[in-house]
This record gives sequence, structure tokens and C-alpha cells, in this order.
Amino acid sequence: MCGIIGILGKAPVAPLLLDGLKRLEYRGYDSAGLATLVNGAIERRRAEGKLVNLADRVAAEPLAGTIGIGHTRWATHGRPNEANAHPHANGRVAVVHNGIIENFQELRGELEAAGYAFETETDTEVIVHLVTAHLDQQKTPQEAVAATLKRLEGAFALAIVFAGRHDLMVGARRGSPLAVGYGEGEMYLGSDALALAPLTSRICYLEEGDWVELTGTGAVVHDAADAVVAREVRQTAHSGALIGKGQYRHFMQKEIFEQPAVIGDTLHAHIHPALWTVELPDLPFDLAALPRVTISACGTAYYAGMVAKYWFEQIARQPVELDIASEFRYREAPLPEGGIGLFISQSGETADTLAALRYAKAQGQNVLSVVNVPESTIARESDAVLRTLAGPEIGVASTKAFTTQLTVLACLAVAAARARGAIDHDREAELSAALVEVPARAAEVLNHDEAIEAISHELAEARDVLYLGRGSTYPLALEGALKLKEISYIHAEGYAAGEMKHGPIALIDEMVPVIVCAPSGPLFDKTASNVQEVVARGGRVIFISDKPGIARLGEQAAYTIEIPEIDPFVAPLLYAIPVQLLAYHTAVIKGTDVDQPRNLAKAVTVE
Ligand code: G6P
Repeated sequence: MCGIIGILGKAPVAPLLLDGLKRLEYRGYDSAGLATLVNGAIERRRAEGKLVNLADRVAAEPLAGTIGIGHTRWATHGRPNEANAHPHANGRVAVVHNGIIENFQELRGELEAAGYAFETETDTEVIVHLVTAHLDQQKTPQEAVAATLKRLEGAFALAIVFAGRHDLMVGARRGSPLAVGYGEGEMYLGSDALALAPLTSRICYLEEGDWVELTGTGAVVHDAADAVVAREVRQTAHSGALIGKGQYRHFMQKEIFEQPAVIGDTLHAHIHPALWTVELPDLPFDLAALPRVTISACGTAYYAGMVAKYWFEQIARQPVELDIASEFRYREAPLPEGGIGLFISQSGETADTLAALRYAKAQGQNVLSVVNVPESTIARESDAVLRTLAGPEIGVASTKAFTTQLTVLACLAVAAARARGAIDHDREAELSAALVEVPARAAEVLNHDEAIEAISHELAEARDVLYLGRGSTYPLALEGALKLKEISYIHAEGYAAGEMKHGPIALIDEMVPVIVCAPSGPLFDKTASNVQEVVARGGRVIFISDKPGIARLGEQAAYTIEIPEIDPFVAPLLYAIPVQLLAYHTAVIKGTDVDQPRNLAKAVTVE
């Protein structure tokens, strides 16, 4: 996805736009650009690569103007070079865009035939020329945009300025989020409230299909049928301070270390401290009577869903189906009447997850979502929302969002178990107590940071790494491998420990580190046999377990990481932390860009 910002102000806007783009850089970082109006004329500065290149460009060639738009890009159509960087503009119109215009080829053909000359490979440029074509037919800028929107297919959030109009900016959203910010005599557009955090806390989220006219004194919102509509202006809690790195070197490191606190916050919102019972917000369906829960999500959120499947089935005896969101619709699975679709997403904007949600809704499912951004599209399209209280997650590789997702899902599984009569009050209290212990135990795991950094030097030399887990720590093996791939660019695979002998064992030699997540408990002995199989073939094992587990098997391992002894129910929450730290330190040792790994984006708003 990309990040967009617009400011219609009183003072020069370029520094504020750059500042806003810094807070949006997590959304895309292969090129960036600004456009302002200088004496009525559109002026642009754009640069390939990180935002710092654009800042250097603007420092060398300052940009005046009190109205402007900015963009940080994650390329979809067209290479990430300067020519394809936004804003796209001609002499009359400048546009920044997040999303994809699916019918751009057709529109481009039409516009070229009408004499409009294209300069880029992007889909966005058709918007510039289409608006211009309508202006050429003597429409007002507002009418030109409204007419343009009716021709666009696909997903977009847009901010548009017009030559000669210091007093007007137009925004639009369909499929991609856009917020309007209200300042003192200034107005703003932003992809999210974070971008606008230091500028204003008065925010209005546009609804699907809306477009908005901003002037220095306010905003007029229109719906998809162009009727003027009222949209609520809310006070947001985001402050600029939340978005700093503090004492940490990277956002990812900060976010890993925030986990005891944010897991604690999320637990406080869902567990009664005196009664040891799970308390969820009122749900518009009966957890006791669900024929099936169908979970869909992407990336790390999908692995949270995979852990949840183990929990729902084991603790609540609740049948669960689980799918990668981008595949779910294509299976065309029959969904039972009265079932729920459960969608997990940090951003609440992932296009595949949203499409899966809409499919489930169309199939008559109740829609429940677990999201970190309460204003997001997924939250708004759900019948009920359970919030993770992770706070803003800026590092592209998800960490604290994952463990807070697990926290909420664990609470939901316990609530379902209670509702279905699968556990009694004592067991609920035991499970709640195990959860409440997690923040303190997670802080203990973080104390192993230096030891984990030392182990990471060996991982940084590897070309391939295997991760093994069994039961509810199998998804942790998958998540560990994903984290390592994402940020260190080392090939890694997660496997169910028992499945190793059906293939990956052929890879094992002293060059392939094998990371094993093996808490003590009923599954330990079987995983222990798998570790022996690795060791017997010269494999070097990094063994993550608790004291009894390490006492039994530690000597076979090249390295051990000791996790506190806990109820096996909450093991996934704690075993997540060492696999995150291993990936983090390995990436730092390799010198990669930890917070903004190549080719990845924080939320993928295209299918
Ligand atoms: C991207 C991010 C991942 C994230 C996934 C799902 O791939 O890089 O970190 O897990 O999207 O995002 P969501 O916002 O839906 O949780």
C-alpha cells in the first residue's frame, strides 16, 4: 500500500508534508514525492528510494506553497523510479493515489486517443488526465472529480489539487482508507490518523465511496451518489509521542519489547481481575450455538488464526476451518447457517482479508473481526469487533500485533469453551490465571535478549534455516520462519516436527540450523525424537524449551533458550518472543533494513 497526505494550510506546507510522510513511510518506501501550488502553478519534487532522498531533494530545491499533497509509494504498476513516483501531474491537476485502478488500460487508450499524452507506466496517471478531460469540458474541479470517480474501477484513496486553486483540495476513497483532519484554519487529508497525529486530533473517516471538498474553513463530504452527507468528526487518542522509537534502535525492537505491556493491556480489557473470568463485549451471536468458526487472515495474522484453531478445538471443542484469506473465496466452501467468519488483521485494511470478509458476509455468516485499528474498513464492516490493544505498529514485520491477536483469540476460545459447556468455572479460572501470568513471563523471556543476539551470529551465516514445532507451537515454527525470511532475507521454512521426516530431513547437515520450539507437556517426547533425528544427521539445533525440557535434551543442542514453565495453553504467546528476537538480531547482524524490508509493505491493500 502507499501513504498519502494533503494539507490545505496557511504557512508553507512542504516541511509538514515531509513530516507526515515520515509517519506514513511504513506503508511504502520505494519512492516518494510532494506537489504544492506556487503562485498558482503545480510544482513537484520526487525521488526514488527512501524518504530521506526526497527530503534531500527538497532541502536542495525548497518548495514553497501553502497547499500541497504528498505520497510514499509501494509500487504496483510501474517500476519504483522517479518518473513513476507520485504526485502525478500535468499543468492543471496533481494527484496522489493509494490503491489500484483496474480499468486503467482501457481509460488510458481512450484518453490517448483523445490526445492526452502519458508520461509514466502507472495506473494513477489516468486519473490526472481524466480529471483534466472533464475540466476541458468546462466542469468545475469538484464536478470533474465526481465524473472521474464514476469511471474508475478498483480501489483508491486520492488527494487532488488544482492549478490556480489555493483554496481547494479534493479527496476520495473507495477500498482504501482516507481520513479528513480538522485544524485551526487548516484542513488535512491522510491515509490514517497517525499521519495527522501532531497536526490534529479531530478526525473524520470517510465512508466507502465518499469524496470530499476541503477548503480553508472546513470540509463538505459527498457520498457515491454525490449527495452531501454528514460524517462524524471524532477525537483520536493518537499522539506524536506514540510513534517515536524511544531508546530503541528500530521500531521492531521497540515493539518486541512492548509486548509485556500491550499483552497486559489487552488482557485487562478481556479478563475480570477478581473473578478470573473472560469478559468479552456483547456479541450479536451465541457462542454456544456456532456450528463452525471459519477463520481467514494473511501473513502473521494467519498464523495467529492457526494457533486459535488449536485452542478452539482443544478447549472449546468448537469445529474450526482456517484459510489464507487470498485462497478462502476460491475454495467456495459451503458455510453453515449460523456460523461465524472470524477475520484477523492488524491494519484492518488487508485487501484479501477484506474480500474474504465480504464473501463470508454474502454467504450469510456472522462476521467477527480481531483488529488493531478500530477505524479500519474490516472493523467497520464486521458485526462485532474484538480489539487488540497493541497501539500503533510501525515495523513492517508484525510482532506485538501477533501476540495481542493471540491474547484476544485465547480469551475468545475460553469464552467459547464456557458458553459451550466444555470447561467449568475452575478450569476457566486456571486458563485465565495462565493468561494473566503471561506479561510477567514475557518480560523474563526478553531478559534473554543478549544470549539470543549471540546465537543469531550463527544464523546470520546460514543460507537456509528450519523451524520445527508440534501442536500449538507448530504455527510458531511457521511464524519464526516468516519473520526470518521477511527481515534477514535468509530462506527459512517452518515445519510440523513430525512431518520433517517426510522431506526436510533431506536438507539437514551442519550448515542448516534447526530451531525447535518444544515446551514440556504431552507432545514433548515426540518432538524430542525429532530433535534426535536432526542431531543424528549432524544438524545444529537451537532448542527453545523450559527448564525440564532443557534438562532432558539440552545437551544435544548447539544452543538452548530457556522459557519459563507455564501452562501449555499459553506457550504460543511466550515462544513467539525468542523467534522474533532471533529474526531481529540476525537481520541487524546482516545489516538489512529491519523496519522497512525490501519489497514488503505494512498492509497490503491490493489483492
Ligand atoms: C503484510 C505485513 C505482515 C502482516 C500481513 C497481514 O504482509 O507485512 O506483517 O502480517 O500483511 O496484515 P494485517 O494488517 O491484515 O494483519
